[in-house]
Amino acid sequence: MSSTLITNIGVLVTPERELTDAALISNDGLIAWFGSAKDAPAADDAIDAGGRCVIPGFVDTHSHLMFAGDRSAEFEARMAGQKYAAGGIRSTVAATRAASDDALLAHASRLIAEMSAQGTTTVEIKSGYGLTAFDESRALRLAQTLTGETTYLGAHVVPSEYADDVAGYVELVTGPMLDAVAPYAKWIDVFCETGAFDTDQARAILLAGIQRGLGARMHAAQLGESAGVQLAVELGAASVDHCTFLSNADVDALADGDTVATLLPGVEFSTRQPYPSARRLLDAGATVALATDCNPGSSFTSSMPFCIAVAVRDMGMTPAEALHAATAGGAAALRRSDIGTIALGARADLVILDAPSYIHLAYRPGVPLIHDVLVGGVSIRPPLRAVLLDDRAAPPVDE
Ligand code: NIG
Ligand code: FE
Repeated sequence: MSSTLITNIGVLVTPERELTDAALISNDGLIAWFGSAKDAPAADDAIDAGGRCVIPGFVDTHSHLMFAGDRSAEFEARMAGQKYAAGGIRSTVAATRAASDDALLAHASRLIAEMSAQGTTTVEIKSGYGLTAFDESRALRLAQTLTGETTYLGAHVVPSEYADDVAGYVELVTGPMLDAVAPYAKWIDVFCETGAFDTDQARAILLAGIQRGLGARMHAAQLGESAGVQLAVELGAASVDHCTFLSNADVDALADGDTVATLLPGVEFSTRQPYPSARRLLDAGATVALATDCNPGSSFTSSMPFCIAVAVRDMGMTPAEALHAATAGGAAALRRSDIGTIALGARADLVILDAPSYIHLAYRPGVPLIHDVLVGGVSIRPPLRAVLLDDRAAPPVDE
């Protein structure tokens, strides 16, 4: 048993209230006690939070980290007015198939390092740039070394070699490819959108996964309203992601059902689309999560603080709602109660912000505000180097 006391917490953000002058004890990776600093029991080790704000680690439930290649030119063209289309995925598929296992894993690990430096303590990783039984299972086998939250997305887009046989590709995704990935995947996902898969295909794909014991998730309503949203709710998907274009009936279905609406502000930012209204979903009573959708095409950000800032600025969320969506909302989208919250027995996955309040996550956009990250009670703070931005010796002054 090893316990750590985090003391001198200026504000501790718990689901019920914000505790000031607080302390927290983690024991064997779980939150064992929190309360007023003056009442804190002793522990084996101590971390001084220096009066900073402590929040749960971010739960990023939507990422496509298993890829190779670069699509910055596509982004540049979009910023010059070109529209985003699902087809760009195929160029990443070619680069990903050509990459070695080591290269794929090293690249994904680098992105995870970016994420954790920005406060993410749980990440979901999808396949979807392999699109053969071999390449999808390879991506998920590698992803499983990085996270337990792995998602099979063989139904990302129809690969070029099946362009004339979409039905044949759906058979592959629901048959031999599913067999190959099943040992490595927890979830199944489908991109239900014009240019990808229609609702009949999406239903068949998710049902095949559910029958194999995988949990269902869906990409829908990214480019326009879609029957996919209500299909996801009907099938009991844990989450339907994007939700950029929703009808009133979609919002009602999300509010009544058990499916989380996961919003991905990085996508609207990077594709110049209108932002979805989180306010409308929250007012209706839906559960909302925020995630990065880190991928080379539609949203190449790994930053949950960036998503929070945009959600507050442009999607009608209060800072508290955005923080909740990025932590407990994400946990709900993974159907987990052990993460995304500061509660007794939850994992001690915590962020010490270099700020007096979580409001600074939106108030100070683009600023690195992560002082330390604790994963299972263990600090992963990188050694800090105190260097001046220009640390060269000043040139001698001529007398
Ligand atoms: O979530 N929408 C589908 N998949 C990704 C985009 C993938 C890509 O463009 O490479 C997304 O936005
Ligand atoms: Fe995605």
